[in-house]
Amino acid sequence: MRIEAHPILGTRSVKETISITVDDRTILAQQGDTIAAAMLAEGFRVCRHTSRTGEPRGVFCGIGQCTDCVMQVNGVPNIRTCITEVEEGMEIRTQVGVGRWEASHE
Ligand code: FES
Repeated sequence: MRIEAHPILGTRSVKETISITVDDRTILAQQGDTIAAAMLAEGFRVCRHTSRTGEPRGVFCGIGQCTDCVMQVNGVPNIRTCITEVEEGMEIRTQVGVGRWEASHE
């Protein structure tokens, strides 16, 4: 779900489509999207689960300040998805607690 026409911002131009994977599901994103924007457009709402209670967290501030949207991106944990742009072939995973580094990044 995307806003195609906005009363103030106008009509959105179509950009190049790329593919990324979120928890092993391939989704389409548009060049210039943040990871969070691409995920929200595809219905993903949860970015991480808290370490103590496992409660879900998703985009809250949307400007890189709260860290509720951190996820593991290409094996690196704690990436703020609301301010990180998508790149072709990115592998994104829901993070649990403080996350963990994949073997290739340790
Ligand atoms: S939603 Fe707050 S840092 Fe991303």
